[in-house]
This record gives sequence, C-alpha cells and structure tokens, in this order.
Amino acid sequence: MDIIWRSLRSNRATSADRAILSLFDDPARFDDFSIRADGMLLDYSKTSIDRDARQWLVKLARAAGVESRREAMFGGEKINTSENRAVLHTALRNKSGAVRLEGRDVMPDIRATLARMARFANALRNGEIKAADGGPITEVISIGIGGSDLGPAMGVKALGAYHDGPKIRFVSNIDGAHFTEASKRVDPARTLVIVASKTFTTVETLTNAETAKSWLGARAKSQMVAISSALEKTEAFGIPADRVFGFADWVGGRYSMWGPIGLPVMLAVGPDRFHEFLDGGYAMDRHFRHAPLMENMPVMLALTGIWHRNICDYPTRAVLPYDQRLSRLPAYLQQLDMESNGKSVMVDGSPATQPTGPVVWGQAGTNGQHAFYQLLHQGTNVIPCEFMIAAEGSEPTLAHHHDLLKANCLAQSEALMRGRVSRQMLPYREFPGNRPSITLAYKKLTPFALGQIIALYEHRVFVEGVIWGINSFDQWGVELGKEMATALVPLVRGADASDKDGSTQGLLKALDAG
Ligand code: F6P
Repeated sequence: MDIIWRSLRSNRATSADRAILSLFDDPARFDDFSIRADGMLLDYSKTSIDRDARQWLVKLARAAGVESRREAMFGGEKINTSENRAVLHTALRNKSGAVRLEGRDVMPDIRATLARMARFANALRNGEIKAADGGPITEVISIGIGGSDLGPAMGVKALGAYHDGPKIRFVSNIDGAHFTEASKRVDPARTLVIVASKTFTTVETLTNAETAKSWLGARAKSQMVAISSALEKTEAFGIPADRVFGFADWVGGRYSMWGPIGLPVMLAVGPDRFHEFLDGGYAMDRHFRHAPLMENMPVMLALTGIWHRNICDYPTRAVLPYDQRLSRLPAYLQQLDMESNGKSVMVDGSPATQPTGPVVWGQAGTNGQHAFYQLLHQGTNVIPCEFMIAAEGSEPTLAHHHDLLKANCLAQSEALMRGRVSRQMLPYREFPGNRPSITLAYKKLTPFALGQIIALYEHRVFVEGVIWGINSFDQWGVELGKEMATALVPLVRGADASDKDGSTQGLLKALDAG
C-alpha cells in the first residue's frame, strides 16, 4: 500500500498547480471521468484526478481488499468486529435468492416483516385501522433519534411528491419543545404514535415516548406502534406484540431505513412506492457488486473522497442537493458518514495511519448560495462540493423553476472550477477557481432514484472505511457523552458537584433555575 500512497502523493505534487479546467483539453474527459448506472450519472471530471492518479486510486482500493470485504459484507460475515455482528442491511432490499447468516437464510423473515408492514400500512391508509374512538387516524407522530429518525424523516420529505398517506411529523430532540411543537394543534384522538428505537434504551426516545403516552391517555394502548430489535423492552413499555415491528441486530441504526424503521415512509407513500425505493437500493447493490472498480459508482465516489481527504488534505466536504425535497439529506449523510468513519483506530486497535472521515455538511441549493457559497468560492479552505440535480423536476406546472435550478447548479460547479480574474484588478473580485466538485445527476427524484442515492452513499462510506482500515459499523464514540449526561442529571437537580471541573461547576451554577 505504501508505494501506492507515495505514487498518489507524487502525482499530486507534480500536478497541484495544474488547472482542473486544462484537463478538458482532452475532449474525452467528461465521458472518461463519469459513470452511468441505471439512469444515474456520476460526473467526477471537475476534480484534479487524472488518468495516472485514478489508476493508483483503483490500485489502492484493490490492495486494501475492497472486493473481498465487499463480498464478506454481502455474504453475512461478522465484519462489525467490535460488536461481533454481521452487516446485512443490504438483505432488507435484496430481491433475489437467499442471504445466509451462519448458514440460515434470513430472507423469509425479511419478506414476512415487509408483508406485515404493508398490511399495516394499507389498513391505516385505507381507514381499516381505527382510532380508539372508532374514528379515523389522520396523523402520525414518529418518535426516534439518529438512525431511527434521520432516514424516515429524510425519506418522507424526499418523496413528498408521492405522499398520499397520513400527515407525518417527527420528534427526536429530548428538548420538550420538539414534542410540544409537533403535537400543537394535533388531535390525540386522531393520531398514531410510532416509537422507533433499535435498542429501546435511548433516553431521548423513551422520554418522548412516555410524554406521548400521557398525551394519548387511555388511547395509548391502541394508538401506539413500536419498531425495535428489543422486543422484551417494547412489551415492558406496554405496546402489544401485534403492534411491534422487529428487526435484527445486524441492521445498523444508520443503515436501517430499508426495513421497519422505514415504516413512516411506507405510510406516507404506500407499500408499492416503498418497494420501488428498495428496488433502487438493490439496483445500486448489484452495480456495486458487479461493475469493474473503475466503472463502479460507489467505488469511484469513495476514491474521489480519498483523493480529496488524504492526498489533497481537504478536511471537509459539502453535500449540495439542488432538490428542495432532499433538504434533509445532508443531515442524514452526516450521521451515515461521520458516525461510520469518524474513527481514529483501525480494526486491529492500532492508530489510524491516514486521516479518516471528513466533516460532512451542506444544505439544499439554491438556498446555500445565499449563505455559505461565498466561502466556497473565495474562502481560504478548498471544500470539495458534491452537487445533486434531477433532469426533470417533480412540479410539471412549474418547469421554468427547474430550468433555473439546473442552471444554478451547473453555474456553481463551473464557477468553482473556472474562477475569474478581475478586469478591474480588484483583488476582492478575484475568484481563484480550480475548486473541485462532483455532480450526481438523476432523471427525477422517484422512490427508485432515492434508493439508488442512499445505497450509493452507504457503499461509498463502506469503501472509504475499508481503505482506512477502520470499522465503519460501530459507534463507540457516542458512549462517553451519554454516560456523563446520565451522571449529570442529579447534579442539574441540585446534588453535590464539588468533584466536577471548574467550568462544569460554574455552568451548573449559571444554569440553576431554582
Ligand atoms: O447516537 C448513537 C445511536 O446509537 C445511533 O447510532 C442510533 O442511530 C441512535 O443512537 C438511536 O439509537 P436507537 O435506535 O437504539 O434508539
């Protein structure tokens, strides 16, 4: 591997001053540095990666064992070593054949759960499932946090053009304001509450769930549903077994929207559309497993990430969907990417030998243009941008808006690359240019395309993690803060804090409302 890293660095050293724009002297640059898969296009031609660098990057992926690790993941091996678990979220969207885990096919259970979800969703959507008073259920409040919230909340918003089910609100924050705002002017008599928590121990979710239970009152018994892999805990909470949708511990929280955690999406758009979403994920899985590395979209997306993070030393990357309905995608990808790859030790416990996961951030275009693009164009840090845009908008009567959206998206990647010399020689009007970006283009934001996008980014994170030699599927880094929060509750309520550091003591005093 060392020689590969060295070759990549030497390519960078000799080409750092070369303008990205000059790479387009080669008329084949766009075709050669873009990948198509099932109606989706990834253009990475506006980066500084040239043919030589790409060859070394692909060698790096191969030398790191991406292909064998990929098959280990799809094959149900326990690649999440620190938790001794397989990583099989891909089975949730698998549409052909068996998926074996320790010799047993997991597909019959997955299909049975999907069928149960569909029966429930259809019955709720067509009014067969009634509220405690015999009236209709027209509202849903979904309670969960992290992977039990970000996926369904992002998905419901993304598929807004297909939303023909009940209104769905999401509550995640332990701040009582979240539940208060979500339940404002909502009639508990007409509301189903979903409690989504893989572990059913998460303090935010359980606190909000208890609040929702009191809000529903006697209706709670028939108007609450749980989604969890801890069935004894959902029962202890008081949710009857026929209202619980379970899933296995080999589905990581941030990879879980393909199964029961995706129930709010299914309620919103119906089971058929939800299956189209799964189909999109499955199509990306097949592409990832079978396309040669250089024509493989998740692999090349990962390798542009490696190039920017490890060779160019860019510490962050911006995700910029030019698609208002994907406005929750950056937050979703923050968890997917940063919780997966924000690690400093490798699988064997030794310190990471390369910088790992970058800071991931962003928001929908064009809004971001009027907020932080100043820094993207003229700031002192170079930030690789990841644009997303549909060929066709979802608002047929407002097609002229979509033309403007497309023009803005393309203008930004072009401006970042080209820059501009000020004719008046005014330094503050100079744009340095040569700033890299990639663009993901899809026909339309359908459920299928959403499935492709999410699976694409999941596999990107996986490939980067394999190259860095880290475990992308655990999240021990969230533990310490959780434990300390639990220990601090009595201190917030007035218990002795004398063994705390000066700052914590001072803040406890300042925040003492008593
Ligand atoms: O923040 C840590 C975390 O464990 C995430 O990985 C997870 O998605 C989230 O909390 C919620 O966990 P649960 O679904 O068990 O409530």
